[in-house]
Amino acid sequence: MQIFIEKDYSAMSKKAAQIFADEIRKKPNLVLGLATGSTPMGTYQELIRMHKEESLDFSQVVSFNLDEYYGLTPEDSQSYNYFMFENLFNSINIQRENIHIPDGRASDIENYCREYDNKIESFGGIDLQLLGIGVNGHIGFNEPSDRLIVGTHLTNLTEDTIKANSRFFDSPDQVPTKAITMGIGSIMKAKKIILLASGKSKAEIMAKLINTDCISTELPASLLKLHRDVTIIMDEEAASNL
Ligand code: PGA
Repeated sequence: MQIFIEKDYSAMSKKAAQIFADEIRKKPNLVLGLATGSTPMGTYQELIRMHKEESLDFSQVVSFNLDEYYGLTPEDSQSYNYFMFENLFNSINIQRENIHIPDGRASDIENYCREYDNKIESFGGIDLQLLGIGVNGHIGFNEPSDRLIVGTHLTNLTEDTIKANSRFFDSPDQVPTKAITMGIGSIMKAKKIILLASGKSKAEIMAKLINTDCISTELPASLLKLHRDVTIIMDEEAASNL
């Protein structure tokens, strides 16, 4: 695990975007795994700036998103589909057919999830996966539990996650209670992983993650310790308990 501690959110975002840009320039048809939430927004803004000012080309890039709230339509302003178009896709030259986001309306869930994983495989797997981390240590919506599921699946959100995500909703009871998420195995198959953490609220979990020499399904991000190429980029606030 490589760990970078950057001064603030902006520096963290620029560092992450630079790695993305370098990888895209090396391999124009890079397969990206993308995340939503507050943490990656600055990285996306920087990638948009690089697209506009430095000709960073997404025309051959393929993307797979980590997760989506179950039950929301892609047009719903709370959906992760909506988030991705608003915060990235509408402002870069990625091709619509190269964008993959789990469909919150999927009905035959088991089949749908298997096909999502097969689709990732059909592109040769994810080259570069971006992750945030939940205050409870989740990655994607792989919540702490006595077991973790390998492939993409439908999951129940924990109280911690519902509470953390309620800041985007008018009230906690509007937060969906289920989501489709890439599984821990889908994430671990990515060739390169970047995990971002920003702000005081992540200080405790980052200290726990970095200081432990154990892996545990109760701390899903700890599984990343088994991966060969993980880069953690955090700001000083997130690193303040180390
Ligand atoms: P956040 O979410 O970026 O909004 O803090 C991270 C996560 O829950 O994975």
